[in-house]
Amino acid sequence: TTNHRIALIPGDGIGAEVLPPAQQVLDVLGRRHGFSLSYTSYDWSCERYLREGAMMPADGIDQLREADAILLGAVGYPGVPDHVSLWGLLIPIRRSFRQYVNLRPIRVFEGIDSPVRGARPGEVDVVVVRENMEGEYSEVGGRLNSGFPDEIAVQEAVFTRAGVTRLLDYAFTLASQRGGRLTSATKSNGIIHTMPFWDQLVTERAASFPQVAWDQEHIDALAAKFVLEPARFDVVVASNLFGDILSDLAAAVAGSIGIAPAANLNPERDFPSMFEPVHGSAPDIAGQGIANPLGAIWSAAMMLDHLGHPAAARDITDAIAAVLAKTDVRTRDLGGTATTAEFTDKLIELL
Ligand code: NAD
Ligand code: IPM
Ligand code: MN
Repeated sequence: TTNHRIALIPGDGIGAEVLPPAQQVLDVLGRRHGFSLSYTSYDWSCERYLREGAMMPADGIDQLREADAILLGAVGYPGVPDHVSLWGLLIPIRRSFRQYVNLRPIRVFEGIDSPVRGARPGEVDVVVVRENMEGEYSEVGGRLNSGFPDEIAVQEAVFTRAGVTRLLDYAFTLASQRGGRLTSATKSNGIIHTMPFWDQLVTERAASFPQVAWDQEHIDALAAKFVLEPARFDVVVASNLFGDILSDLAAAVAGSIGIAPAANLNPERDFPSMFEPVHGSAPDIAGQGIANPLGAIWSAAMMLDHLGHPAAARDITDAIAAVLAKTDVRTRDLGGTATTAEFTDKLIELL
């Protein structure tokens, strides 16, 4: 049997509560589909930062390099500034391993009572393809004159032809394999350098994918349409920040940000890819055992797909659909009363 080496980074808050359910599910599938997973766990977290002054060891990235995939919970906790914790762990992994695609699917499952009227179960099936290495998340800039009236902070958004083009090729290819539709999130009416460049590259790459019907929407209008008519979208391609915002919005349309998964992909497979729920460490509910594990479990499914086990991945998404459609067991974010463990047990029963 094939063995896959998985690096586990539970991280902070509910990150450490949603990874064990994902592992439980993975182990069932390994037995069924004839593969095994061996885990190496890393205690890299805000707790470690407070103890040792760094989120991970100096050679942390090198320690992950030989893994077949990384499964991460969440990073960030009160007591450590978010830009310190995130730029000390999550963002360096995405960048060092060239995980330039952040794939964030969302579906409105049967049995979900979406807060959005037009989001009928079965009709909403969207993938946000988020640029994951450049754009608005840039180190270029600085701060001056701290505390003075002319204090200033500057942050440059960086878009490269190579970086945007490789993302667009991924997104157009995905659209051609799915419903054949792609929407590009832009803001070229207000942002005069980067976004017209983005639009230009979209138009250029679209010429190579005549089978894909594409359009573009300004991010503000797109946000509104995600709420009003979510069923009209298939693949949505977006810059780093726009994709970040749209993916939480889409998750809320699907009932809760606790459901949404993410795959940080290095499509060339030169380095490990990383799988993590879209949500954060949720300090407001951490430690209570009530976090929704579906985002982490669905992320584990995306990991299995990436590792070459699409049938096992489908078993997981089928079980997610089944637990929502056929039972009323749910965590609190979905209107239920179940704990993380009870919800996980019910899902595994249906797996
Ligand atoms: P968050 O996603 O942690 O929480 C937002 C809201 O959603 C909270 O009310 C929370 O209780 C709820 N929620 C989130 N996940 C849930 C789940 N699985 N089940 C039930 N409810 C859930 O976002 P935030 O409050 O902006 O950030 C909290 C911390 O997490 C910050 O330090 C932030 O930087 C970090 N963060 C990390 C990641 C990551 O590691 N990928 C992602 C987002 C935020
Ligand atoms: C996400 C998170 C991160 C991001 C933060 C915590 C840096 O919100 O993964 O969506 O913005 O990429
Ligand atoms: Mn986010």
